[in-house]
Amino acid sequence: MSGSRIVHRSIGADLPVAVEGSGVFIRDAAGKRYIDASGGAAVSCLGHGHPDILKAMRVQMDKLEYAHTSFFTTDVAEALADDLVRHAPPGIGRVYFVSGGSEAMEAALKLARQYFVERGEPQRTRFIARRQSYHGNTLGALAVGGHAGRREMFAPLLFEAHHIEPCYPYRHRRPEEEEEAYGRRAAAALEEKLVELGPETVIAFVAEPIVGATAGAVTSAPGYFKTIREICDRHGVLLILDEVMCGMGRSGTLHASEQEGIAPDIMTVAKGLGAGYQPIGAVLLAEQIFAAIAAGSGSFRHGHTYICHPIPCAAALAVQQVIRRGNLLDNVRRQGDRLQAGLEERFGNHAHVGEVRGRGLFRAIELVADRGSKAPFAPGVDLAGRIKRAAMARGLCVYSAQGTADGVSGDHVLIAPPFIVDGETIDTIVERLGDAVDAAIGEARERREFTSRCEAATGRQAV
Ligand SMILES: Cc1ncc(COP(=O)(O)O)c(C=O)c1O
Repeated sequence: MSGSRIVHRSIGADLPVAVEGSGVFIRDAAGKRYIDASGGAAVSCLGHGHPDILKAMRVQMDKLEYAHTSFFTTDVAEALADDLVRHAPPGIGRVYFVSGGSEAMEAALKLARQYFVERGEPQRTRFIARRQSYHGNTLGALAVGGHAGRREMFAPLLFEAHHIEPCYPYRHRRPEEEEEAYGRRAAAALEEKLVELGPETVIAFVAEPIVGATAGAVTSAPGYFKTIREICDRHGVLLILDEVMCGMGRSGTLHASEQEGIAPDIMTVAKGLGAGYQPIGAVLLAEQIFAAIAAGSGSFRHGHTYICHPIPCAAALAVQQVIRRGNLLDNVRRQGDRLQAGLEERFGNHAHVGEVRGRGLFRAIELVADRGSKAPFAPGVDLAGRIKRAAMARGLCVYSAQGTADGVSGDHVLIAPPFIVDGETIDTIVERLGDAVDAAIGEARERREFTSRCEAATGRQAV
């Protein structure tokens, strides 16, 4: 759109104007219809225009649009908190509502710090997280995040966080290594870092159970998170799980950590919580953390104008009810299996797809210049951007990103359709994505960087 006064993500990008949404579809002002196969960034988990969510918002708007939390609480925020705690991992007893994922992470980091100060351990000041992770774009969240490309510009402003290798089987498991053995080895990096820093100086370990935006639906090796939990417990360090993208049903269970058989001390959720109907995020915390603050200073030293906003809470509560009433997590698992199978069939022998992975309706393909060496495409090729544009030209929205392999190079495409998706639409998504990937690679072949990277990887002339 020319002449826009908005600072768009990419200045100068010619974005279509979205005018209407219904189910899995978004229509633009030119009348073109797109399958929203990633819900933006794994947000729109119920698709667009769901009548029950719109109704719940209207009912709340007619009653009360806003009340500041230093004066009042509201029934709707209390009901949502009760609902989330009822379905939370063991030990979680309280909830703190914010307006999105980065805010949830900021609150989680401050909460964890305050917990230790209240307990008389103020020397705990450090966070350990993982490379290639993403925890948000505000300064605190960016500081713990481990994505080199996203951090670079702001590095001088970020507090020092400590990063270990991610658990990334496709790239880091040794050829002969059993999956479990790799999981133990990857988790051992946390113990080593704790010993190096002095465990008594560390507040928490922060991780996404399934790495989303920065690596593309990377699930950990079996046993990895169990070992992580044990290490945290052994050293009295909190475990903060960031389920902003992978949580709230996206992986086939309400929380992704359920499938790892562990419970966090603090968990953040956002995107799927409000399903895009309203901006909302939440921090779920262990009762023991709440109790320490309640018995200590008596207040969490934090707050924003819009925490516990009643309309996002009404939307999020209705989202939870719709998911349960329709047994939608069954559909997430069923269609997720179909999506995985479809992607494997389409890309299993593709020269430039290294892996198809993920859980539930949170799947990805990782693109490589060469399958044998797993060498990524050169960043200048912008394969992720080319795939996104080629997909949109074919009426498909998918979330593609760069930096998969090491924070700078590597490309992946995330597919995260709504929980209401049917099998036929899944097949169409796979078909259009297949065409888009081939078209984008065809275009990229014309670029010099593509060829040189292939040759470097294989030692022979590129195709
Ligand atoms: C795992 C994770 N944490 C935090 C965030 C930040 O959320 P938001 O963009 O709502 O601030 C994101 C966003 O992509 C995310 O994927």
